[in-house]
Amino acid sequence: MSKSISGFSKLSKSKKIDWIVNTYFSNTDDAKRILKQYWNNDEKLQQLHDEFIENTITNYYLPLGVAPNFLINNKLYTIPMAIEESSVVAAASKAAKFWMDRGGFKTKVISTTKIGHVHFLFRGNFDKLKTFFDSIKPKFYSEAKSITQNMEKRGGGILDIELRSKTEELNNYYQLHAKFETLDAMGANFINSCLEQFAKTLKTEALNYEGFTQDEKQIEVVMSILSNYVPDCLVRAEVSCKVDELTQKNIDGKAFAEKFVQAVKIAEIETYRAVTHNKGIMNGIDAVVLATGNDFRAIEAGVHAYATKSGAYSSLSHAKIENGVFSFWMEIPLALGTVGGLTGLHPLVKLALEMLHHPSAKELMQIVAVAGLAQNFAALRSLTTTGIQQGHMKMHLMNILNQFEATETEKNILSKQFENQTLTHSAVVSAIENLRSNN
Ligand code: MEV
Repeated sequence: MSKSISGFSKLSKSKKIDWIVNTYFSNTDDAKRILKQYWNNDEKLQQLHDEFIENTITNYYLPLGVAPNFLINNKLYTIPMAIEESSVVAAASKAAKFWMDRGGFKTKVISTTKIGHVHFLFRGNFDKLKTFFDSIKPKFYSEAKSITQNMEKRGGGILDIELRSKTEELNNYYQLHAKFETLDAMGANFINSCLEQFAKTLKTEALNYEGFTQDEKQIEVVMSILSNYVPDCLVRAEVSCKVDELTQKNIDGKAFAEKFVQAVKIAEIETYRAVTHNKGIMNGIDAVVLATGNDFRAIEAGVHAYATKSGAYSSLSHAKIENGVFSFWMEIPLALGTVGGLTGLHPLVKLALEMLHHPSAKELMQIVAVAGLAQNFAALRSLTTTGIQQGHMKMHLMNILNQFEATETEKNILSKQFENQTLTHSAVVSAIENLRSNN
């Protein structure tokens, strides 16, 4: 039975573990051993990880894989990917190689604007609010100067602040809708600090504004926060080649391209398919976002919101054949950083960024978009030709064998056996049982 506890966060790490294992596990020694097995021997490194979050009891490993041969705007990259799902890295590598031989990926950053809001309530006349806003607008900039001056020196800062009325949707609800350029930083702290300063300026100036009645002076700030919806922080990735160049073993290029385009069109009009199609894109995107120390939840939320921009959830990628040329592309919003946050703290993140030639945030946007497009290409290629299970199960074989604690010899025998046999979970289980009963 679960118990509640007060003061848990104040306990030492070992006391926290004692409480957890005594409360939840019958075999306390075993639970403790497993938790400690994942600690790093290097105490400083362990402390670094302990301090990333709160109440840390151990580390949760994800494999870090690499996908080489990505040719992006004529420059070669090996892309680091942190992900638990088998076959994603293999698919990325295959797609990279495929397109390396056909001109590679072409990418372009379309825009880099980030957005944040002060959400507030105002009970009064909108025209008066607008006049007030226009009169104090320069103060938003001047009073945030101590926060913005360094960013401005580097060429970024506050781009604009607008007053927006939302009263048609919610009584008395207005926003300061602010736009920012945060350069190589993801910018969450910068934006939120600016917004909180805007909120202070707004409230203080309202109290002192002579044009307001007593009621109007009482502006109520509900919250100040950046938005993870960044439709103006947009990057485009594309591949294209003559349809004939798509001819592969047993597959005619034209037939392949036509079926591929059809598969994308289905994801454009059918939400059930679009969600899975986009999930495949996110397999690539999240893995690189994680490996480079960025916030994959923010990216996920922003990208999926963007997928609904037409009013219905739809495919993020598009494809066409025109004058014998196949093109496949995607435009997605990606607010990424290559400085600040984990990027300067996590040794593996530093390594990942070095592997990517120390990219700027703009370069990272392009690399991440390519990883998404490549993943989508690989998935659609399998789905429209052999079916997904052939490759997927092959990669999954090791997971099943590990589940059964197969020895190296058993792994070798069974990997060979399944080169010529249809691979399903139950077939692998019977094969292990057979092998063991014959020994
Ligand atoms: C599996 O993680 C991703 C796919 O389902 C994507 C897709 O269907 O396009 C293979």
